[in-house]
Amino acid sequence: MCGIVGYIGEKNATPIILGGLKKLEYRGYDSAGMAVLMDGRIEVRRDAGKLEKLAALIKESPIAGSAGIGHTRWATHGIPSARNAHPHLSKDGNFVVVHNGIVENFLTLKEELEAEGVVFQSDTDTETIVHLLEKNYTLTHDLISAARKTLLALKGAHGVVMMSRLEPDKIVAARIGNAGGVVIGYGEGEMFVASDIPAILDHTRRVVFLESGQMAVITRDGASLSTLTGLPVKPEFHVISWDPVAAEKGEYRHFMQKEIHEQVRSLTDTLAGRVDWEDARVLLPSLNLNREIAEKIQKITITACGTAAHAGMVGKFLLEHIARIPTEVDIASEFRYRDPLVNANTVVLAISQSGETADTLAAMEEARRKGAMVWSIVNAIGSQAMRIADGCISMQVGPEIGVASTKAFTAPLVDLYLLAILLGDLRGVLTQRDRQKLVSDLSVLPDAVGRCLDRENEVLAVARALKDTRDALYLGRGINMPIAYEGALKLKEISYIHAEAYPAGEMKHGPIALVDKDMPVVAIAPQDLWYDKMISQIEQVKARGGVVVAVATEGDQRVESLADHVFWVPRVNWLLAPVVTVIPLQIFAYHIASLRGLDVDQPRNLAKSVTVE
Ligand code: F6R
Repeated sequence: MCGIVGYIGEKNATPIILGGLKKLEYRGYDSAGMAVLMDGRIEVRRDAGKLEKLAALIKESPIAGSAGIGHTRWATHGIPSARNAHPHLSKDGNFVVVHNGIVENFLTLKEELEAEGVVFQSDTDTETIVHLLEKNYTLTHDLISAARKTLLALKGAHGVVMMSRLEPDKIVAARIGNAGGVVIGYGEGEMFVASDIPAILDHTRRVVFLESGQMAVITRDGASLSTLTGLPVKPEFHVISWDPVAAEKGEYRHFMQKEIHEQVRSLTDTLAGRVDWEDARVLLPSLNLNREIAEKIQKITITACGTAAHAGMVGKFLLEHIARIPTEVDIASEFRYRDPLVNANTVVLAISQSGETADTLAAMEEARRKGAMVWSIVNAIGSQAMRIADGCISMQVGPEIGVASTKAFTAPLVDLYLLAILLGDLRGVLTQRDRQKLVSDLSVLPDAVGRCLDRENEVLAVARALKDTRDALYLGRGINMPIAYEGALKLKEISYIHAEAYPAGEMKHGPIALVDKDMPVVAIAPQDLWYDKMISQIEQVKARGGVVVAVATEGDQRVESLADHVFWVPRVNWLLAPVVTVIPLQIFAYHIASLRGLDVDQPRNLAKSVTVE
């Protein structure tokens, strides 16, 4: 979950690494550090807290050099503190390491090293790597062999970057398992390495991704790739089309706010090239799907975590209703250990913004082991979830930096809708009229989202009224039930307000006891199949003195007369309603957190990519 950046070339590495870390701070932000090769020594600066503290430290005590590595941390072993911050230096000062992942056998390695007289300076598992590297170098006298030997001794999943003052012309990077990506960036007479593309996008777009079990020896003129056991690997080059500006905040106060507002564009891009409007057909060539495969599918299991799992819950409605395929949704951390019933006629469909979530990747691997077809819907280009799938739908949303996912929630809703139409079409369950209606309903969607965004100030006014609440209850039914979960998750993760979500029909089985005048109840009640049921739910809440915030279809006077506050959304096909009903809830959570003076983009205890279990 940590962020890594490295540079080797002719320029001063310090500002390049600091700039890269800034772009990666969303990955972890409890401490940060960097090391550069300076006048034949390794100079390390690191501190607890956010990147500004590291930047201030470097200003006070400057470092400069033409090779360096940096790190921004999300603590696993050892509290956030300067001594636990990366990089970690060997005791002879010759080697330095930054690391993302968990060394699962670190206790054994640590005991062995301590028995040999090594005194540990931190509580981290990472420190074992650098001491092991130092020890192996005394045996091999060669950084590449020592790195190989060290990496092969590590259990668990890792991204590791190492440097030595004894061989200052190179940086060694490796990826083992699914702890997050390692991307090598190619420049002119300079090279970059990072855990994520945004860190190097200002400098290059030509990249190679390391696969699990591969390492790269990077010099200023290029990189040589091999397996950890030494077999050469031919690099596969990618050119990243993301606009570097997309990874900047621009006129917005926070990335989250910017990303909420980007949804008109991200949804337009999601549809671009995938819908043949005239013929009313869907095109998803990257899925490698044909009639034979489509007809073979007996079940789809969607697996994902957090917000992505909520998108999957909407997907269940879409795939069952439109394509008539039984669909279940399984939280990836549960699926992977549940001995799930999947086989060659099952599609396991993973959804992930980062494409690096450890549980989701493990669920995909479990599905593959059991012989299922494995598909994914993924945002991060070149990520593991994109590469290990048999077929992948790439979200067209660009980098998502805010820790709270927004545009990477609405895009997969549309991807799932498209997938359902394609499957329904190939399986012959849709009439031409059905297909035409489903496809044409899509055309108004970006505009409908735009209308929700235009009402930001109305939502802000409600956020002002309710910002000091301690709890909130979110209710929805049917296809909008997952939106209740998503709205509650958005609120709790960035505003630290306790928010619970329930299928509205469950209220009478317990949760209604919570309702009183201090409990705002957010009721998602567009005019759909479940509308009357939601109205009676709102009545029940009002009868108990609760404050109701309704998400309702524009012009709905019934809801207006009942609710204390209303977030209006335009009328769209009920199958697409979640794409619009979630927008005011994203805006609401954003403004509440912002009014409470909280760090919206970097909420406490969280990180953008969850690459550990
Ligand atoms: C919440 C949020 C998380 C992620 C979850 C999965 O706003 O962002 O719940 O959705 O950690 O992440 P990805 O989609 O990267 O697999």
